[in-house]
Amino acid sequence: MSAIENVSYDTLIPNNVGLSSDRRVLKALEKWHPGYINWWNELIPQKFQRSPVYLRTAVSVDPKGWAKFDYVKMPEYRWGVLLAPQVEGRKIPCGEHAGEPAWQEVPGEYRALMRRLIVIQGDTEPASVEQQKHLALTAPSLYDMRNLFQINVEEGRHLWAMVYLLHKYFGADGRDEADDLLRRSSGSEEAPRMLGAFNEATPDWLSFFMFTYFTDRDGKMQLESLAQSGFDPLSRTCRFMLTEEAHHMFVGETGVGRIIERTCEAMKAAGIDDPYDIERIRKLGVIDLPTIQKKLNLHYTLSLDLFGQEVSTNAANAFNAGIKGRYMETRIDDDHKLNHATYRVAGLENGHIVYRDVPALTAINMRLRDDYSKDAAGGVGRWNKIIEKAGIKFEMKLPHEAFNRKIGVFANQQFDIDGKLVDGATYDRGLKDWLPTHADGEYIQSLMKPNYEAGQYASWIAAPKVSIDNKPGDFEYVKLHMT
Ligand SMILES: [Fe+2]
Ligand SMILES: [Fe+2]
Repeated sequence: MSAIENVSYDTLIPNNVGLSSDRRVLKALEKWHPGYINWWNELIPQKFQRSPVYLRTAVSVDPKGWAKFDYVKMPEYRWGVLLAPQVEGRKIPCGEHAGEPAWQEVPGEYRALMRRLIVIQGDTEPASVEQQKHLALTAPSLYDMRNLFQINVEEGRHLWAMVYLLHKYFGADGRDEADDLLRRSSGSEEAPRMLGAFNEATPDWLSFFMFTYFTDRDGKMQLESLAQSGFDPLSRTCRFMLTEEAHHMFVGETGVGRIIERTCEAMKAAGIDDPYDIERIRKLGVIDLPTIQKKLNLHYTLSLDLFGQEVSTNAANAFNAGIKGRYMETRIDDDHKLNHATYRVAGLENGHIVYRDVPALTAINMRLRDDYSKDAAGGVGRWNKIIEKAGIKFEMKLPHEAFNRKIGVFANQQFDIDGKLVDGATYDRGLKDWLPTHADGEYIQSLMKPNYEAGQYASWIAAPKVSIDNKPGDFEYVKLHMT
């Protein structure tokens, strides 16, 4: 293991970027630290702050063994600055500088654009912790509570990752931006988070699992494109964040899967074949499949909005400058400049959806969103396998890209779930079947009761197939009673 893969603990902030010999940045981060701890302490209810949680902490950036597991009280978690190892001779992978050596400093001409992208990414990280702050109070098990907290501390670390870049490379402006990341807050009237989906509430655990499946996956795609950046410190930061992100989406996929599994199991035991026999199914204390589909529709469409306009000159500029690449840029077989290439985007003409080819450079967002949709479809297929195995006739689906959009060509149009433009009355009537209603929310809320016995699970969710760190089924992932 090379020196750079080891994390040093000789300062308040664990890191592998040599902070102890970078006095200026160390001082700036130490100044920012108390505000961060305040933010954390005000967010998470006290009883959980005092409880040891079985968490993984990064001790290296070696992909084969970067984490160790142990009980940690969350305010004592060692949030650190961790960059993936530098790749010798790395080149800028795309845009007009393709093939030139990657930058170790920010080029002056791209400073503003780069700072903005880092701030937008940084803003999402604490936002999700804010959105999830009440969930531990209704955790369906200690296993799930532990996963929630693992994700929360890691999103906190992702904030640190972006704040480090701001302090290290962007001087006084960077410091101001870092302070603002703690000033804005999810759902706030005066200072909301920057992106829509990050101001929505996460009121229950089904929402949480859908969020980590769909919205963390948007995070993955954004990180993948920033991992291609010609600005090497940004690329290295994002590459390490991606190793943590994988677990967040695992929690989402298996969480939804376990809810589906439990519903199917309860239906079979009660002899109910019809997934739309909602009243009887709900009497079993499980979440009916059509309601799960409605939650899916909501979270998927909110997440599509995060990719921005289909055709975007900002995205073209970022790609052309080599600040942001495409998903798997280095594995794509083309000139990586896109001077003459085209890409198919959706548009709207006289109420009809049309697809047309536009210069690929301007369609960078659309391409990333298409890659996202393909990636997101994988888990939906696996959820359907669970339903099929139970012998129930129901299929989960990703809704049409035009449905329920607030951003892009389909914004604020009345498309149904299959992408058909419908009149206002039809739309209003359909909505209750497409998106969660108030009553659906209330029903789900009625199930949200804490289950804090080790090895036990709430009525509406199956036990996981695999444990964390090979622990036995009755392992006490959070020691609520040892405070
Ligand atoms: Fe994150
Ligand atoms: Fe995440």
